[in-house]
Amino acid sequence: MLAYRHAFHAGNHADVLKHLVLAQVLQYMVDKGKPFRYIDTHAGAGGYLLKGAQAQKNAEYREGIGRLWSRADMPAPVADYVRLVHDFNLPGPDEQGNPPVIEKGYTPPLALYPGSPSIARALLTPGDALRLFELHPADARTLMTHFGGRRNAQILNEDGFAGLKSQLPPTPRRAVVLMDPSYELVGDYGKTVAALRDAMTRFAEGVYMVWYPQVSRVEAVQLPKRLSALAPKGWLHVRMTVAQPNRQGFGLSGSGMFILNPPWTLHATLEAVLPWLTQQLAQFDGASYHLEYQPA
Ligand SMILES: C[S@@+](CC[C@H](N)C(=O)[O-])C[C@H]1O[C@@H](n2cnc3c(N)ncnc32)[C@H](O)[C@@H]1O
Repeated sequence: MLAYRHAFHAGNHADVLKHLVLAQVLQYMVDKGKPFRYIDTHAGAGGYLLKGAQAQKNAEYREGIGRLWSRADMPAPVADYVRLVHDFNLPGPDEQGNPPVIEKGYTPPLALYPGSPSIARALLTPGDALRLFELHPADARTLMTHFGGRRNAQILNEDGFAGLKSQLPPTPRRAVVLMDPSYELVGDYGKTVAALRDAMTRFAEGVYMVWYPQVSRVEAVQLPKRLSALAPKGWLHVRMTVAQPNRQGFGLSGSGMFILNPPWTLHATLEAVLPWLTQQLAQFDGASYHLEYQPA
């Protein structure tokens, strides 16, 4: 039933865009100095072995995080995101619990890729809460192993579309929601819009981030427009096209993020970063980006 496994795609160009934007939004919330709730409706496994059989099948990470890994000339927001991935790859404490000795400037080999829950865990403060929905039992178990012991963390082996309403409005009234379905079922597009429409009626002040694939499917093309209708208080839409569809017209050409109630700083940050990032991740001459902002 649940055929999609994110391990096949971990660290690809779509993860780069998604996690760069996620890190920017979470850092903005943390910098405000007030606790908030991070809700991941489709959390995945939380981390991925890039040398594992699934990630190695098409080695998608090589055209994503792999292209940025050893660069010394990254714009600051990209460098901040890549640093989170670096830190995820550093060795942990030894058997006695002593922290590893790491030389300044050391770049570890790229062996692991953090999922969205790990990006969040790296940025959140102890006062912030994590709510991780994941329907796949194996991935939910992995999340439980790695996040279950964290104070203020709940792992929910449930449908994140339906479960979101149980988390809103949060206490205190600050929240960031990441909705990152696999869209393996075409009904996911409609469920995304319906879940966010409901969420906006419960908690209109929330920051809601939706990832979507750039594929030849009318539902994917229409999704940003449908989401913009939910956001009287402002939205931001970013899409990065890095590849051409295959000969049959299918395949992932790029991906987009639609954010309801984005931090006001996000547009300028992305405007500065996208020309560079698109160039680095381009797989054909026509690579491009699209950035639209409707301030509140
Ligand atoms: C694209 S992956 C998530 C990746 C993760 N957010 C990240 O950025 O690292 C989508 C995940 O949603 C899970 N899933 C599918 N349908 C779901 C549902 N209705 N509710 C919760 N999780 C679901 C899949 O098992 C998969 O792990």
